[in-house]
Amino acid sequence: MAKITLSIIKADIGSIGGHIKPSQRLLQVVENYIKEKRGNLIIDSYIGHTGDDIAILTTHKKGVLNEKIHKLCWNAFITGTDMAKKQGLYGAGQDLLKETFSGNVKGMGPAIAEMEIEERAAEPFLMFVADKTDPGAYNLPLYLAFTDPMYTPGFILSPQIRKGFKFRIMDVSYTQADKVIELNSPEEIYDIAALLRDNERFVVEGIWSRDSGEQAVSVSTTRLHNIAGKYVGKDDPVMLVRTQKDFPATGEILSPYTIGHYVAGFMRGSHSGPLMPVKINSSISFFDGPPVVSCLAFCLKDGKLTEPVDTFDHPYWDYVRNNVSRKAEEIRRQGFSGAAMLPMSELEYTGVMETLKELEKRFIIRKKQS
Ligand code: F6R
Ligand code: MG
Ligand code: MG
Repeated sequence: MAKITLSIIKADIGSIGGHIKPSQRLLQVVENYIKEKRGNLIIDSYIGHTGDDIAILTTHKKGVLNEKIHKLCWNAFITGTDMAKKQGLYGAGQDLLKETFSGNVKGMGPAIAEMEIEERAAEPFLMFVADKTDPGAYNLPLYLAFTDPMYTPGFILSPQIRKGFKFRIMDVSYTQADKVIELNSPEEIYDIAALLRDNERFVVEGIWSRDSGEQAVSVSTTRLHNIAGKYVGKDDPVMLVRTQKDFPATGEILSPYTIGHYVAGFMRGSHSGPLMPVKINSSISFFDGPPVVSCLAFCLKDGKLTEPVDTFDHPYWDYVRNNVSRKAEEIRRQGFSGAAMLPMSELEYTGVMETLKELEKRFIIRKKQS
């Protein structure tokens, strides 16, 4: 059996009413493009949106970073952008940062999460799409699900899980090339935590089972401002996670999303807000947020996808959403002050720098009084 590749390629190419959600017509154009041009290149596909981001999931046998697969999705986004412009959608083509396609979409704006896998007899996996946040948003849930028996009882109950996982973590502040480190749990969990506490700099790129050697997780690590040289929008990350058997169970992977931990994003990509687990195709509202994450579960057979199951569409998550709303309201009560707004380096706007430069001229240094 040839290996199967799962690819998610995602971009914000325009939305209605600000950064809320793409139009039906825009989604249709992207979907039709993939349907019409797919030929024998892909085995199956799924297209959906979370907030203002459109994610294309494809299954194929071409491996990761494949030129033809990436070009198909890039062209679908280019064609979609024409429709977004025609409809006057906000931020049309926003995430397509380069003019010409060269090899693959890495470094061109869209977020990518891909995995080439040896398909298991049953192959359950999850597709996460988050909006109004950045790739570090997955750090804490991944750390908890892949190291902590408080969230993953599999560490106590399953001999396969007990062997631990290898984390590959990227320093996304290094822009000349990919700078990564590999660390093993459980021996190095404190080192893993020391890095993952800094969500804006260190981001989980992938996780592997130490029992089977198979890849469990792939996260998009794009930082748009590192490509464009300035802030052009939040990075709104996507992630693939395989579950069960040699990996944590689906419910174990989902359990940390009960926390609604504070992440970077929210209004103008410049605030801290709690990450709310939402139903697929949800839109954005309060304070251009709160930051949201959706998660679809699939099974795979010979590269063919089942229909998706919306994992956060359950009464339990209504209760979580209410708690997360409370957390959102609480931090919003302090407006721009302290922890509510991101540090200077993470603000999506440069206006405040100019204000500070101007104000600097008006400061006086008081003479020492003897
Ligand atoms: C993320 C998102 C926001 C915007 C930010 C800037 O999906 O939509 O992070 O990028 O609010 O918006 P503009 O460019 O409209 O000032
Ligand atoms: Mg946006
Ligand atoms: Mg977005």
